[in-house]
Amino acid sequence: MDVQTVNSMTCEEFVCVFGNVVERCPLIAAALWSRRPFSSTLELENGFNEFIDSLSIEGKEGILRCHPDLAGRELLAGTLTVESRGEQGQAGLTSLSSADALRMNQLNSQYKKQFGFPFVICARMSDKDRIIQQLESRVRNQQLQELHCGIEEVKSICRLRLQDIYNRAAKSTK
Ligand code: GUN
Repeated sequence: MDVQTVNSMTCEEFVCVFGNVVERCPLIAAALWSRRPFSSTLELENGFNEFIDSLSIEGKEGILRCHPDLAGRELLAGTLTVESRGEQGQAGLTSLSSADALRMNQLNSQYKKQFGFPFVICARMSDKDRIIQQLESRVRNQQLQELHCGIEEVKSICRLRLQDIYNRAAKSTK
């Protein structure tokens, strides 16, 4: 997908394509549509990052709270977004042993109790062991430091989701 295609989209089309770049936050895509025209697809990615950075602490916490737990109830119930399901699958979280699933659940609960928002990590750049190790270590962070960590992970998730959108579009025009 080239930038001209992106710039020619209606708001509805744009939200349909980019609405889940930030998990369950289509409002961010709707707001970014107003910033067209973009000079490049990189500028659109920067737009997502700048929008997220410009939010208050409460806004950033809100973004984290829109993320489902890793290997959590929604994975079992089959109610994850397509993107999240794919990411959790790539990280091996759809085939955890019951001991690992239990451990991850305990750590997710402990983390949420500590910070008031769920643990977010770019699952595709990780795997089960690293996720457990990061949960164990990040739960010891200060509140603001951890908010920053979670938000940087959201940006990595966004970058990979945008790449997927462009790659899929490139394949479908071949
Ligand atoms: N990392 C990549 N996708 C997700 C997600 O949906 N939830 C959480 N918590 N982390 C993620």
